[in-house]
Amino acid sequence: MTLTLLGIESSCDDTAAAVVRWSEQDGAQILSNHVAGQEALHADFGGVVPEIAARAHTEKLDHMVEAALQGAGLRLKDCDAIAVTSGPGLIGGVLAGVMCAKGLSLASGLPLVGVNHLAGHALTPRLTDGLPFPYLMLLVSGGHCQFLIVHAADRFERLGGTIDDAPGEAFDKIARILGLPQPGGPSVERAALEGDPKAFALPRPLLDRPGCDMSFSGLKTALLRARDGALAADGSLARADQCNLSASFQAAITDVLAAKTKRALAAYAALAPAVPTLAVAGGVAANQTIRAALAAQAESAGVRFTAPPLALCTDNAAMIAWAGLERFRLGESDDLTLSARPRWPL
Ligand code: KG4
Ligand code: ZN
Repeated sequence: MTLTLLGIESSCDDTAAAVVRWSEQDGAQILSNHVAGQEALHADFGGVVPEIAARAHTEKLDHMVEAALQGAGLRLKDCDAIAVTSGPGLIGGVLAGVMCAKGLSLASGLPLVGVNHLAGHALTPRLTDGLPFPYLMLLVSGGHCQFLIVHAADRFERLGGTIDDAPGEAFDKIARILGLPQPGGPSVERAALEGDPKAFALPRPLLDRPGCDMSFSGLKTALLRARDGALAADGSLARADQCNLSASFQAAITDVLAAKTKRALAAYAALAPAVPTLAVAGGVAANQTIRAALAAQAESAGVRFTAPPLALCTDNAAMIAWAGLERFRLGESDDLTLSARPRWPL
């Protein structure tokens, strides 16, 4: 059996389309993967503006679909189904994608498969590594932070997650507080290279509580206070303090993620998985310090560690095509009543 799916993603600030093929013989293959970011459109606003995002998705989607099909050397009718992110996300953007997919489905007669964006992230290691179930996934990005045991393509067990900010969001806010450029993750990581992670004592929230829940907003407040204490009389922040605060913040986030990963690994071990694996996905997984800490936790638990290539860790449509393909292979699909869901826990 061979299945080819077109995937469409527009739930935040990336307009994306991709074509993924799977066959029993050759496994999964990404035939094309096109992403158009909207950074420039939102740059002046210090964050994603939902209305601007939705309009840009509407303008771009058709072109992205055309580019993805052309890149794969296919016509729409060569595909078996159309997968689209139907939530969670910014409602205007999700609607734009769902409407585009419905139009294509209506015109071509191809089945429609609604995909949960988080399932897209969580199933990516199966696209890239053919990972068997069950595996432990840490999804850690600008919008999400949760531990999931992925039992099957349609069965996810949430062990815990952030109760407030996501770590990427915290990195972005901290960059703003320290006067570093956006996106905050990479610039804080760069500054941290020159800093001392012990220079400022920051809290490690929720470590005293059992379970895998995390909190990062108090850390941000603590950092704000530490920065205010370090400001010069003229309100400026010395480069050394900028670097030390970055390093101290990164160390605190890393400690929390590592400690909670240890707990999640213990819960996962109880399942006695055949190929014990910890997979991470999301933009924050690009951070070398965090990545090394997670890999070390996995190693000491005797668990394999894997992270998809960065382009597939951040928002893209190949993961949506793949998650749709996994659903479709199980005999599941949707009809034209498919709705856009701004909130949709796994
Ligand atoms: O997965 P992603 O592209 O988008 C979603 O949030 O869905 O993740 C983007 C987030 C941003 O908050 C960015 O600051 C963070 O990932 N990030 C990083 C690094 N690179 C990106 N955080 C820490 N260290 C990094 N090197
Ligand atoms: Zn995402």
